[in-house]
Amino acid sequence: MEQQEVLRTDQITKQYKMGQIIIEALRGVSISVERGEFVGIIGPSGSGKSTLLGLIGGLDTPTTGRVYIDGQDITYLSESELTQVRNEKIGFVFQFFNLVPTLSALENVALPIQFSRKRKFNPHKRAKELLDLFGLSDRMNNRPSQLSGGQQQRVAIARALANEPPLILADEPTGSLDSASGEVVMRTLRDVQRHTGTAVIIVTHDPNIAAQMDRIISMHDGLVVKDAAQMAAVEAYQKQRATGEMSPISIS
Ligand SMILES: Nc1ncnc2c1ncn2[C@@H]1O[C@H](COP(=O)(O)OP(=O)(O)O)[C@@H](O)[C@H]1O
Ligand SMILES: [Mg+2]
Repeated sequence: MEQQEVLRTDQITKQYKMGQIIIEALRGVSISVERGEFVGIIGPSGSGKSTLLGLIGGLDTPTTGRVYIDGQDITYLSESELTQVRNEKIGFVFQFFNLVPTLSALENVALPIQFSRKRKFNPHKRAKELLDLFGLSDRMNNRPSQLSGGQQQRVAIARALANEPPLILADEPTGSLDSASGEVVMRTLRDVQRHTGTAVIIVTHDPNIAAQMDRIISMHDGLVVKDAAQMAAVEAYQKQRATGEMSPISIS
């Protein structure tokens, strides 16, 4: 597969000022992620995982250092330019789904397409295709409150994919689900990564989730302390590719 960097951070730091006190949430983090990677970020509470994900996703700007998304330096973009990068290049999946409660599943998924400046898809057609793919054909007109947690999270993944971004960022995506629904959500993210070539970065403190990732970035106290391939996962994936046994995206 063609190697293509979808994310690079260059020595990013983040300081939060709390009155007289400065909290160093990140103290110089350099990572690079290529197209189609399936990466976990782990580390104890307070180690900087969410801060890092927020900076990668253009939700906040670093104190020093640079962030590149799909080859573009996003560090010093204006708020409106950042909004556009987020809309086109990044799909977000949150612990508590963050769907719009007054909109149907279909309308939630169509929303990012309706907001995009370079509209690549017909919003409702694309939303329907994605929900069909995730086994939610009969749930399109339901509002989030009428769906289970696992179904809501699959709607959120469909929404994240709406504009076909090269990168999906998920912060504890299974954190508020029971283990069976969590497994379906993880399988959905894995299928997305395998079939679309979208890179997926998942922040988790769950060792069972971390064990499924191809690569693990471990954080401690605002620094990356380890960044390594997880060989078992990588080998299983390579074997599966060699034998042509790819799991289809078809989850109900
Ligand atoms: N908005 C904020 N203002 C002040 N301090 C913050 C803010 N966000 C995070 N922090 C602090 O930065 C450090 C890293 O936090 P965070 O990135 O949320 O860690 P994690 O996601 O690994 O638990 C912690 O000490 C946290 O208290
Ligand atoms: Mg966090």
